[in-house]
Amino acid sequence: MNLKNSANTVIIRDVYNDIGSNMISSEPLVDDILRQIFVQRGKGIRPIFMALVGELVGGSWESLRKGAVVIETIHNASLIHDDVVDKSRLRRGVETLNIKFSNRISVLFGDFVFMKALSLAHTIDIPEAVHIINVAIERMIEGEISESLTNEFIDEETYLKIIGNKTASLFAASGELAVLLSGVDGYKKDLARELGESVGMAFQIIDDTLDYNGETDVMGKPQFMDVISGNITLPVIHSLKRLPSDEVEALFANKKDSVNRITALVKRNDGIEYASEKAGEYVQNAREIIDRFEEKKTSAVFDEFFDMLMTRVC
Ligand code: FPP
Ligand code: MG
Repeated sequence: MNLKNSANTVIIRDVYNDIGSNMISSEPLVDDILRQIFVQRGKGIRPIFMALVGELVGGSWESLRKGAVVIETIHNASLIHDDVVDKSRLRRGVETLNIKFSNRISVLFGDFVFMKALSLAHTIDIPEAVHIINVAIERMIEGEISESLTNEFIDEETYLKIIGNKTASLFAASGELAVLLSGVDGYKKDLARELGESVGMAFQIIDDTLDYNGETDVMGKPQFMDVISGNITLPVIHSLKRLPSDEVEALFANKKDSVNRITALVKRNDGIEYASEKAGEYVQNAREIIDRFEEKKTSAVFDEFFDMLMTRVC
């Protein structure tokens, strides 16, 4: 994502400064590794989204900043665990903890970072905020479990359910929380949750296209990880759906050897184009949700965000 917008830069700086101040341990060995984990910042898409939703309903960045820090911390914790699950070796351009240390260390640090997020969440003085966060975490874990347990070729509907749980859930919570922390209640919270769900779906679908058409150096994570880890995503679902089931089974029986053939099929059958169109439909849905806010005149603030979402290369 190209962060040209200075407001976005401020948000990322604020969030990662706060994460840094919160991410401390009295145990020097733990503290040292925590510093290493957060040297690389994330793209801050969820906090940026929260700031935009806050702006939409008349809230200030400061009123929702802590919520954004909680959300971004949960996201970071989930990636530490996800890299163990996916056996990934690179994240944000550097070796993952599981490669640098071990799965054992990764799981424990993921737990630690996750716990820091929860402790911070409990300092938000609105019980509903913690509930919103808990609902999202439960769905994230369910999504990650379903993805890991699924070892057959899934259809589009199953894929959408999985990514809704593993990814859109945290975006939905981000939207809802942004409204709540802006001091607004009622239908706008529900709309913002729906908006986040759509944004999260578009985000993950684009992420899944990058696995096929992105560049490792630019993305800071390896290409073709989904194929190698057996994660069936939309480009491949679309591209292989007309193949006889025994051929599909054979392809996925030896995923490493089939990477070239699978990526060739994705290219030939326009898997990336299909998935991008689908992501575009979710963005269109998001625009329509924004129109249902009474402040729809300010929906222009989202234009650049949607553009970033659809055209990002990392
Ligand atoms: C990245 O997906 C992973 C997620 C969106 C969610 C991961 C969720 C968990 C591990 C469970 C929740 C855990 C905690 C601690 C809250 P991806 O593999 O498609 O993305 P990638 O290509 O960036 O790895
Ligand atoms: Mg992964």
